[in-house]
Formats: sequence, C-alpha cells, structure tokens
Amino acid sequence: MTMQTIAKEDFSRMFRMDPSDLPERVVRLIGEYDLHYRPSQMKDLEEYVLNFLKLDENSKLSRSGEENRLAFEHGWSENLDKIRQSDPGDYQLALKPGYFRGNRFFRYDNQLVVTDNHQLEYELFVIARLCIFHGWLAGARVICEFGCGTCANMLLLSEAMPEATLIGLDWAKASRDIASHLRQSLAKPISGHVFNMLDPDHTLDIPEGAAMLSIHAFEQLGTRFDAILDFIMSKRPSIVVQYEPVLEFYDSESVLDVLALRYCRKRGYLEGYYTKLRSLEEKGIIKILGAWRPYLGGVLHESSLIIWRPV
Ligand SMILES: C[S@@+](CC[C@H](N)C(=O)[O-])C[C@H]1O[C@@H](n2cnc3c(N)ncnc32)[C@H](O)[C@@H]1O
Repeated sequence: MTMQTIAKEDFSRMFRMDPSDLPERVVRLIGEYDLHYRPSQMKDLEEYVLNFLKLDENSKLSRSGEENRLAFEHGWSENLDKIRQSDPGDYQLALKPGYFRGNRFFRYDNQLVVTDNHQLEYELFVIARLCIFHGWLAGARVICEFGCGTCANMLLLSEAMPEATLIGLDWAKASRDIASHLRQSLAKPISGHVFNMLDPDHTLDIPEGAAMLSIHAFEQLGTRFDAILDFIMSKRPSIVVQYEPVLEFYDSESVLDVLALRYCRKRGYLEGYYTKLRSLEEKGIIKILGAWRPYLGGVLHESSLIIWRPV
C-alpha cells in the first residue's frame, strides 16, 4: 500500500496557521523526521482493537490520586538524573517522558494509521508544540505552565522565546528540580514550584497579564478543575493555551472515538471542562478564542486545543 506523509500544509491545517507562518524550526523538522504512514487495513485494526481490549482489562489503568503523584514523581526523577548527566545539546532527549515508548499505530486525520517510525507520536508532538507556541504564545513576556512535568515544554519554549520568563508548576518535586537545573545550566529565566492544581497556592506570584499553558496536564484532573480555574481567573492572564483531551469533541458514532472515550474515562481524564468554559463564556466571564480538535494522535486518544482569556 502506498505510503503517505504529513506535510507542511497538514500542520498549517491542523494548527490553523498560514503555511508561510510556520516557524523555521518546524519546517526543518518536517524535513528531518520520517513522517510517513499508511492507512490501516482490517488486520491492523483487529490488532489495534485486540491490544486495546487487553489494556482495558488491566486494573492498573485507573490510579488513585496519590498513586498518580508518586508515579509522576518517580518518572520525572529519572529524567532529572538524565539531565544532570547530559550536555545541553542532549537536554530535549533527557527530558523525553518515559511513556513515549514507541508504537506502530497512530491516530491521524480521523483514522488509524500505521507507521514504520515508532517514534512518530513523539516527533509529531514536538512539531505540534512548536506550532502552538509560535501561533499563540509568541511575544509573551511571562509564561506559566501548569503540570510542567519534565519541563520539556519549557525547554522548547525557552529555545523559541529566549527572553520569556518561564514559571513551571507541578506537584512533583522532581519537576521543580529540573526547572532549577535548566535555570542554572542555561542561564535562562526559568523557575519551578511545587504546586497542586487541586489545591492551588494563591500566594504564588504570577504577574497579571501572564500567558498560561497546560499540555496533557489538566487531563489528570478528571472533573476536579474548579479550584485551578478559580486560580487562573484570579491571576488575570492575557491568554490561556491548553492542549488537552476534550471528550466533547469525540464522536460517539465512531469506533475509534468510542475506544478513546473509554480509555479516557477509565483513566479518569479531564471531562466537562470545555462545557464549563462554554458556560463561563455564555455568562460573559471569559472569551474562547479558539477550540478545535486537530485530529492528531496519540496512539489511544487525542488532544485538542482550547485557547481562551478572562474578559
Ligand atoms: C501527562 S504529564 C504531562 C507533563 C507535561 N505537561 C508534558 O507535556 O510533558 C501530567 C503532569 O501533570 C502533573 N499533575 C497531575 N496532577 C497534578 C496536580 N494535581 N497538580 C499539579 N500537577 C499535577 C503530573 O505530575 C505530570 O507532570
């Protein structure tokens, strides 16, 4: 079967940017990475569904809040060890989360596709983030990231916008320590703080008009997003950029989407958040600047973009 590739035009469609506006680094990476894929055939789909069903039986899919925190603390401590032993040129690799294990399947353009490049998910994630940062955060003087994890997003941000002050928040202490390492070794205005989105510390100093970012982090909150939403509103950001699963955008008549919904619900991922933002918009409290699903996987589920600001 003929291989297809994900090209510049596809990124501009998915991230709603003019092709001529794609940053230079994105264009270079599109050329460097192997972004080939082929649509799945029936036997691929059967294998994918079988893998899914086996995973679905795994009781470890749902974790308590504390198990979740400990799992992240443990994972990010390994990244902290790696970055301490790496040269700055290798930091991006050192900060790659361990859950990008590689897979021959990928969700793309509302279909299941198959690739020989088992790192396709991660490489597309790098490009996707660069598009999002360029499209929505260029020019921000302060960027505060919720659930910053290994700080890989902050590293990408600091390369794209060296002048921006970056504040990383996460309940894992290892995330704070990685941010400190980045600040010291790169001499960049990066800081990290231990911070629980479920019980936010309102005394944390975030200047009014900062940009706020979350990537696969609100996903962890399930339906418990009210406290962090109050926190965001109280800090009066200029923009909030979120790349998170939005269950409202899935189609309950599509097999692939029903599987993704099932996975997200079993993991206790973010649910009802977009509906809540819509209701705040109807009350004139916030303005949603954009909300859409780029149809770019994940192996098992997809993230969507929601961009908004308080009114
Ligand atoms: C899937 S990881 C994503 C990390 C990072 N944003 C990225 O894009 O690689 C989710 C992150 O959210 C953090 N997190 C989960 N629940 C949290 C909470 N209640 N408060 C703060 N951080 C939390 C985890 O520690 C983890 O770093």
